[in-house]
Amino acid sequence: MVDTPGRIPEDFIQSLLSRVDIVEVINAAVPLRKAGTNYVACCPFHNEKTPSFSVNKNKQFYHCFGCGVSGDAIQFLIEHNSLSFVEAVELLAGQLGMQMPQSGQSEPSADHNLIYNILAEATAFFEQQLRQQTLAKQAVQYLKDRGLTGITAKAFRLGFAPPGWDNLLTSIAKDPKQKELGVKAGLFVNREGNKFYDRFRNRIIFPIRNRRGKVIGFGGRIIGSTSDEPKYLNSPETPVFSKSHELYGYYEARQAIARSNSVLVVEGYMDVVSLVQAGITNVVATLGTACTEQHVQYLFKTVPEIIFCFDGDAAGKKAAWRSLEICLSLLDDQHRVKFLILRDNEDPDSYVRKYGAAALQVEMKQAASLPDFLFTTMAKQVDLDHIDGRVQFATQIKQYLAKLPEGILKTMLFDRLAQLVNVDPALFHGKKPRAMQRRNEFSQSIISKALVSPAIRALALLITYRELAADLATDIFSLVSIDIFGCNLFCAVAEILKASPTITDAEIKALLPEALRENFVVMDLRGIAHIVPKQGVREEFLGAIEILRRRKKELVMDDLLLKAKQNVLTDADKLLLQQMLQEKG
Ligand code: UTP
Ligand code: MN
Repeated sequence: MVDTPGRIPEDFIQSLLSRVDIVEVINAAVPLRKAGTNYVACCPFHNEKTPSFSVNKNKQFYHCFGCGVSGDAIQFLIEHNSLSFVEAVELLAGQLGMQMPQSGQSEPSADHNLIYNILAEATAFFEQQLRQQTLAKQAVQYLKDRGLTGITAKAFRLGFAPPGWDNLLTSIAKDPKQKELGVKAGLFVNREGNKFYDRFRNRIIFPIRNRRGKVIGFGGRIIGSTSDEPKYLNSPETPVFSKSHELYGYYEARQAIARSNSVLVVEGYMDVVSLVQAGITNVVATLGTACTEQHVQYLFKTVPEIIFCFDGDAAGKKAAWRSLEICLSLLDDQHRVKFLILRDNEDPDSYVRKYGAAALQVEMKQAASLPDFLFTTMAKQVDLDHIDGRVQFATQIKQYLAKLPEGILKTMLFDRLAQLVNVDPALFHGKKPRAMQRRNEFSQSIISKALVSPAIRALALLITYRELAADLATDIFSLVSIDIFGCNLFCAVAEILKASPTITDAEIKALLPEALRENFVVMDLRGIAHIVPKQGVREEFLGAIEILRRRKKELVMDDLLLKAKQNVLTDADKLLLQQMLQEKG
């Protein structure tokens, strides 16, 4: 069978690429670190010690400044996982739950069945090994020390991969075909062409089942707490296993989830197992990756409420915020999302063992709703007693709320925001604010947009407090044409005032280009300026300009990344881009 891109319709590929998240795809293979708006890592395609491999989420594209490789998510899988084009597309389509167009199907599902079979054999092998008292003694003791009963171990089909390089291999893969299949299933690692060894060695095995109960992969935990090896080793992505799609414990919990109308999402295998044993059975875990849109979409199909439970450490809080961002666009009026951050660095497992299941259930009942979590987290970061703090708060929250699907919740939350920052709710609903209804269209929009546009704030202050012109650095004239409301007007006025600070309002107006002239509504601008307390004027002014500068940088960076994608970066561009990425990182 010839394997060419042409066999899959272009529009299918485009729609796949528009849904896929390259950051997740790459992060599954090469752990990425966030650096500004991009993600970076040491390049997987050449040897290096400092990261020059950069992934841009907005552009859905990667580029290495060291060796020059670049491409989209499909290209990455082709290069990194040595897949064919069709295989890469199939893998992504599978993860996204997209049906491949008929002609593109190169692997019959019979192949999947073979993989399920070998995984089932491996599961039985690991289970049986855990019962071989002599070899598994330490593993069994470890599980007992952690309070797990034999019944729980059985329910989750826990197992043991003995020490040694080929226990599983010699037991279930006698011929080369089985070995190859085992590699595909993630059980064996292929070395030097025809040598194979067990991926999981001397680890407690947590089989991961799909929604129909078939084992699709494994998590393997080291025994005890000290080791040079990673604590958990997971199956790689395979044709039947995708971390961004699957949830540990879903199969075991499905009835409890349906019964309780709610699901608790935790981070670890042990959290799931331990909570179920303690009687909290509607629980699942993400598989060492962040929660994805697919996870949430899937859970929302069966249950109206998700409660995320995270450890109280910095990583837990970060993960909570990421989940919030994922959930926003899916949170319609029929669904609820709550957040529970455990105190004192406990994780759900240690929490129930210390305080009991009832205490955790109380915490779950009191978990913060997504809107409460959003508002309180943001409020902690700003000073709501001052106008600039309130502007910042409103601006940021507004961006988050905008992502919610249209509905009652969204409307109510915008009203709540308006109340908190003490402005007319109509500002956020795109209606005319009552107090301004008699003014002309533009001045009305100037006033409402001043709440969110730093350019209008800077302009208002500059017009009112002319001495600020002395603070204007020349670089601000380059801020022209940024996509922020009022920026061109601000730049034009700034340029005039920098040259002649004592000029009158009327003269400024006369000097402005015609296109900007009618937008120059001095009375309204002064009104806005007077909202700012006198002692805060300079700080507010410089702060607003700083926001414009930052936006300008982002735009320059986007432009450079686009050029990188099209392979048209000059040497000077490359240098600039690298500098900017470093600055951010
Ligand atoms: P934790 O470190 O919180 O693990 O990682 P845990 O479940 O509390 O582990 P115990 O209690 O020490 O046994 C949470 C999850 O992150 C993934 C695993 O899925 C783990 O359950 N993880 C963690 C890995 O994939 N690899 C690691 O090395 C560590
Ligand atoms: Mn734990």
